[in-house]
Amino acid sequence: MQHRDIIFSTMHNNALSPADIADSRILGMFDPQQFRNTGHALIDLLADYLATNMEGTGKVIDWVPPHLAELDWLAPLPQHPVLNPTDLLERLRHEILPGTLAIHHPHNLGHQVAAPLPLAALCDLVAALANQAMAVYETGPSATLLERQVIRWLGELIGWKNVEGVLTSGGAQANLTALLAARQHSADWDIWQKGVSAGRPLRILASEHAHYSISRAAGIMGLGANAVVKVAADAEGRMDIAALQQAHREAIEQGTIVMAVVATAGCTPTGSVDPLSSVGAYCRQHNLWLHVDGAHGASALLSPIYREALSGIEYADSVVWDGHKLLYMPAAVSAVLFQKPEHANEAFAQEASYLFQGSSHGDETYNTSYRTLECTKRMMGLKLWAAFSLYGREGIALLVERVFGTARLLAQKLEQAEDFECLMPPQTNIVCFRLRGADQASLRSAVIEAGAFHVTQVTLRDEVWLRTTIMNPLTTEKDLDELLETLRRRAT
Ligand SMILES: Cc1ncc(COP(=O)(O)O)c(C=O)c1O
Repeated sequence: MQHRDIIFSTMHNNALSPADIADSRILGMFDPQQFRNTGHALIDLLADYLATNMEGTGKVIDWVPPHLAELDWLAPLPQHPVLNPTDLLERLRHEILPGTLAIHHPHNLGHQVAAPLPLAALCDLVAALANQAMAVYETGPSATLLERQVIRWLGELIGWKNVEGVLTSGGAQANLTALLAARQHSADWDIWQKGVSAGRPLRILASEHAHYSISRAAGIMGLGANAVVKVAADAEGRMDIAALQQAHREAIEQGTIVMAVVATAGCTPTGSVDPLSSVGAYCRQHNLWLHVDGAHGASALLSPIYREALSGIEYADSVVWDGHKLLYMPAAVSAVLFQKPEHANEAFAQEASYLFQGSSHGDETYNTSYRTLECTKRMMGLKLWAAFSLYGREGIALLVERVFGTARLLAQKLEQAEDFECLMPPQTNIVCFRLRGADQASLRSAVIEAGAFHVTQVTLRDEVWLRTTIMNPLTTEKDLDELLETLRRRAT
C-alpha cells in the first residue's frame, strides 16, 4: 500500500491491517517532509547555539561530575516511542546542547579540537544522509573523487609532485596507517604474511614528545610499545639531532631494523615542531623512512608567514594531517599522505593489494578500502573540499594565522607578568605556563568547575604546567587578560 493510500484509508476510517500500520510507521520514519520541517527547526536551534557560544557570555562548560550527570541518563531502553521530533528538539535545546563543551566559546582554550566551520558541519549532514560507504568507488563515486581532490591539494601544499593517500577517522588511526606502510616497506621479509617474528626486531625512533598513538601503533603492529625508542628533545621541545643519530647507531648495534623515524610537526604537549630539514636530510642519507606526524601543525603550511617552520616536510615518505584540528573541520577527518603513490597500498598489503600490480591498477586506485583500516567510512572529503572552495587556502590560512598570533600574544603577556612563568615561546598555537606558587592541577580544576575557561595541563619532566591551545580565532586579547585574572583570583 502506498503512503497516500494509507492516509486516504485513515481519512475514511477504513480498517487498516497490521501490515498497513507497519508500512505507515516505516514510511513515517523516512518522511521527507518531517525531515524538512525538523531540519529547518534544528538549523535554527544550532544557529542560536553557535551565536550564543561565540558571544562568550555564558559558561564554557556547565560542569557536573560525571557520576552525578549520568543519573539523568539511566532510562530503560524505549520499547515504544517516547519522543516526537518536537520533543527531540526540546531535549537538544534544554538538556543536550547545554551539556556540551562550548567549542566556539572564546574561553575554550583546552584541546586541539577545531571550532568547526559551520558550513563544513552542514556538509557533514550531507555525508550522514547520503551515507556513502566508500569502500569501493561504486559505493561512493563523488565521495571518492572529492577525497582524491583533497588529497592532491594537501600533497601540493607539502610540496610534493605526486601524492597518494586516504582520509581516515582521526590522527591516531592515520599514524597507524602510515606506520603500517613503513613497516611493510622496511622489513626485508613479507611481514604482512609472515608476521613480525619472522625477521629481525623493528624499531621506531620518535621524539620523547611524540603522540601516544605512535607507541600504541607499535603495540597494535605486534612490535611491542617498547619498540619506540624515545629520542630526547631540546629545551624548546624539538627532537635533538645528536640524540637521533645516537639512537640510530644503537639500534644498528643491537641488530634491529629502524622501520621509521617519526618527526612531529606540532607535538601535543607544547606544539613544538621537530627540525624537519635536518631530520629529513639524515633520513635521506641513511635511507630511513621519515614519517611526519603533522596532525596538529601541518596546517601551518597554508600560511606564507608560518610555513617556513615546516621546511623539510617535503622529505617525508608519509605525512599525517588532521582536518579536525587546524583545518577547522568537524571531527573526524585525517589525511594520511604518501609521497610515493605505491607506498599508499603497502599499509594493508593483503592479497587484494596485489591487484595493484596487475592491469586493473588504474581502476583499483579508486577503491579506497585498499588504503585504510576502515571498510565503511564517512564521506569525509566533502567538507574539506567545500571549505577550500568557499574560503580558499588564504581564508583558512587567516584562521591559522589568527590563532598562532593570539598564542604569541598570550606568551608575551605571560613574560611580562611577574607572577606567571611561560615554558617556552610558542612555535604553533599551544602555550604552556604556570602561576608561580600555585598548585596548577587544583587551579585548573577550579577554573573548569566554575565554567570560566577550558584549559588543560601537561606534566613535563615531572612538573605540571597549565596548557592552552588557542584554537578559536574569536579568542581576543580581552579573553587572554580575563584568563590571567581568573587564574589569579582562583588561586587565592
Ligand atoms: C601530534 C598528534 N598526533 C596525533 C594525534 C591523534 O589525533 P586524533 O585525536 O585525531 O586521533 C594528536 C591528537 O591530539 C596529536 O596531537
